Parts: sequence; C-alpha cells; structure tokens
Amino acid sequence: MTFAPARVTLRRGDITTDDTADAIVNAANSSLLGGGGVDGAIHRAAGPDLLAECRLLGGCHTGDAKITGAGRLPVRHVIHTVGPVWRGGGHGEADLLASCYRRCVEVGDEAGCAVLAFPAISCGVYGYPLEEAAEVAVHALVEALERHPGVREARFWLFSEQAYAAFHRSLADAAATQ
Ligand code: AR6
Repeated sequence: MTFAPARVTLRRGDITTDDTADAIVNAANSSLLGGGGVDGAIHRAAGPDLLAECRLLGGCHTGDAKITGAGRLPVRHVIHTVGPVWRGGGHGEADLLASCYRRCVEVGDEAGCAVLAFPAISCGVYGYPLEEAAEVAVHALVEALERHPGVREARFWLFSEQAYAAFHRSLADAAATQ
C-alpha cells in the first residue's frame, strides 16, 4: 500500500470543477438543505436533484457524513458532512472535525469511491482557525487512509493561498513524522 501521506494531495480553487474524483465532500449544515460557501456552490452546480435527494436524508449530526448522487456534477457522489462550529477549541471541536474526515472516508469506501475531494471543512462560516483545522484534517485523513486502502487518494481543494499554505505545512509535517 502507498505511504498514506502521499495519498493526500492539494489543489487550489473551486471543488465543483473537479471532474476526476469519484465523490466530492460538502461542508454542509445539519439540515442538509443547502447554505452558503462551498455548500451553496455545490448545490448550484449540481442542480435541484441534489436538494431533492438531501430532503430524504433527515439531516445529519455534526461529525457524521451521508452520501447522495451528484446531480449535474461530473462526479458520481456528493458526501455531505457537518463540521463543528468553532467555539474556542474547548468544546470537542477537534474530535468532531476528525470524525467528519473519518466518516467521509468510511462512507466513500463503502460506495466504492477511490478518489475523494475535500474542502477545508469548518474553515469558512464555522470559523475554525486554518492552522488548527489543517493539522486535524491531515492527521485524521492519514489515519483513515491507512485503514481504507480502497480509497487511493484524498484530495483537498483550497480556495485561498492562505488555506493552501496551512494545509501544505501540515502535510509536510505529517510526511516527516511518519
Ligand atoms: N471550493 C472549494 N472551497 C470552497 C468553495 C469552493 N467552491 N467555496 C468556499 N470554499 P464554508 P463551513 C472554502 O463556509 O465553515 C454553509 O452555509 C471556504 O473558503 O463553505 O464548514 C453550510 O450550509 C472555506 O475555506 O463551510 C453551513 O451552514 C471552506 O471552503 C456552513 O456554511 C469551508 O467554508 C458550514 O461552514
């Protein structure tokens, strides 16, 4: 099996442009009925079929993930996960954020997805500081990939240069300490 940190890759830009992943991950809210940020972009690009499917799911708890089809998006699935709202770091935020990444890999693997595309969950409206989020995200993904060899690649799409730099640093640290 390939060294797990090498299976985590980074891209700059809009996750909805990814046409080679099997699934893209949505940073949703617990209603799963759409919102702003990456959630809004994914629903706009996927069209109304995605929202219709989401209505049948009965929401999603923070730290969990649920899978649907992808509407008009050029991937097979959207995996909807609900990140924690940052409340200072003492309210279980890191465990909940790690759980999002773990559950997405589990759900994606069950659906036969080999390539998963992730946004920086909780790093927008939910206010999770980038450096802390990057460390939790990379660590959780490396662990999850070790347990799920069927998921060949977990690819981050980072919107800003600042987000890209934070995730790049965490990934370099993870590779150095493996
Ligand atoms: N592609 C990649 N990354 C993006 C895109 C995009 N098209 N658009 C935004 N980002 P956020 P959250 C980045 O706010 O913090 C929604 O209203 C963004 O710069 O989308 O988990 C939901 O419905 C940031 O780095 O998600 C929830 O109510 C990261 O994606 C709430 O926001 C996540 O920002 C979830 O908040």
